[in-house]
Amino acid sequence: MASNNQMYNENTLKLGLFSPNCSGGMAITKIPERWDASWENNLKLGLLADEVGIEFILPIARWIGYGGDTDFQGTNLETITWCAGLLAATKRVSVFATAHTAFTHPIVAAKQFATIDHISAGRFGLNVVCGWNKPEYDMFGIELADDHETRYAFGQEWFDIVKKIWTSDEKFDWDGKYFKLSNVYGNPRPYDGVPPVMNAASSAEGRNFAAKNADYLFTVLIDPEMGKADVQAIKALGKEQGRDIGVFTTSYVVCRPTKKEAEEYHEYYANENADWPAVDRLMDLQGVHAQSFPKEAFALFRNRFAGGHGVFPLIGSPDDVAEGLATISAAGFSGTTLSFVDYVKELPYFAQEVLPRLEKKGLRMPVA
Ligand SMILES: Cc1cc2nc3c(=O)[nH]c(=O)nc-3n(C[C@H](O)[C@H](O)[C@H](O)COP(=O)(O)O)c2cc1C
Repeated sequence: MASNNQMYNENTLKLGLFSPNCSGGMAITKIPERWDASWENNLKLGLLADEVGIEFILPIARWIGYGGDTDFQGTNLETITWCAGLLAATKRVSVFATAHTAFTHPIVAAKQFATIDHISAGRFGLNVVCGWNKPEYDMFGIELADDHETRYAFGQEWFDIVKKIWTSDEKFDWDGKYFKLSNVYGNPRPYDGVPPVMNAASSAEGRNFAAKNADYLFTVLIDPEMGKADVQAIKALGKEQGRDIGVFTTSYVVCRPTKKEAEEYHEYYANENADWPAVDRLMDLQGVHAQSFPKEAFALFRNRFAGGHGVFPLIGSPDDVAEGLATISAAGFSGTTLSFVDYVKELPYFAQEVLPRLEKKGLRMPVA
């Protein structure tokens, strides 16, 4: 049976939409038209993604916002229930749920994900997060281990249990360091085998975890040259585990008829009207507890954080944006996520102007 999951389609460069479940999306801005992460908007976006042939939608699992004037990402739809709703309403696009390993018991998680996979006849994907945002752990009363070894050792046990529930023919007991479980099983299994799994990490421990467990590793892109080296290193790590893993990155888009218009809009929302206290709070938290970005990136890219959470900018005319995406592909990435200030308003223009250019470059097929 051919998979219904678009993560397995033939496109050389796969595209996803990132963070529409969180207020502000990825843009840390005070402008009135900043992203409103209402269910109504998410639903509109899901239907649009279906129509234009975007491969996947990826949420951010967030529990506390970053303060500032807008409390960036402070209003956020819970990703597992959001994912179920979107998959029930759409027909084609893959939708991921993002799970913090420490906040969801693995038996509950395995059952929730299998259920969602059935709702969608196999279009579900899982994004595993092993922890970095300390205030959220404090809110749950759960200790965030200082060292990455412990975070990922816990994550490994969590993931092993989920996977075993999905694949084991018999009930099993689990006597681990973090979980002691008896007579474990869960039916139904996922719809069509183990769903696609992604993990984002930059630390050595995180990357080893991804190489061992994930189909796709997400990594931030500082510049294409560094990106190329990164892709090679990650793929080599996968090979050591006997696995062929795809490497994805994440980017934000400001696409307008001319480069000048795109740059002016970027200046307006990501500089003149940036929510700087929220930018600084996000950068502080990431700098202290995660290794997602190299240290020098924080000083260099304050504006990139305001524009799109620090991810790779694609700002310009449709030709510029298509060229930027082709560069990402040439660096070896299997795909990238996209985010827009107003996803619903801006995706149609991107789809109309940029997607045909990517088709001409041989990176994507037209939607059937
Ligand atoms: C594409 C992408 C998606 C992510 N999704 C989330 C998320 O939803 N919630 C979260 O707390 N962290 C998220 N992260 C953070 C990472 O999962 C990871 O915890 C962080 O990079 C720190 O890991 P490290 O220190 O091992 O590199 C994401 C990162 C990327 C690049």
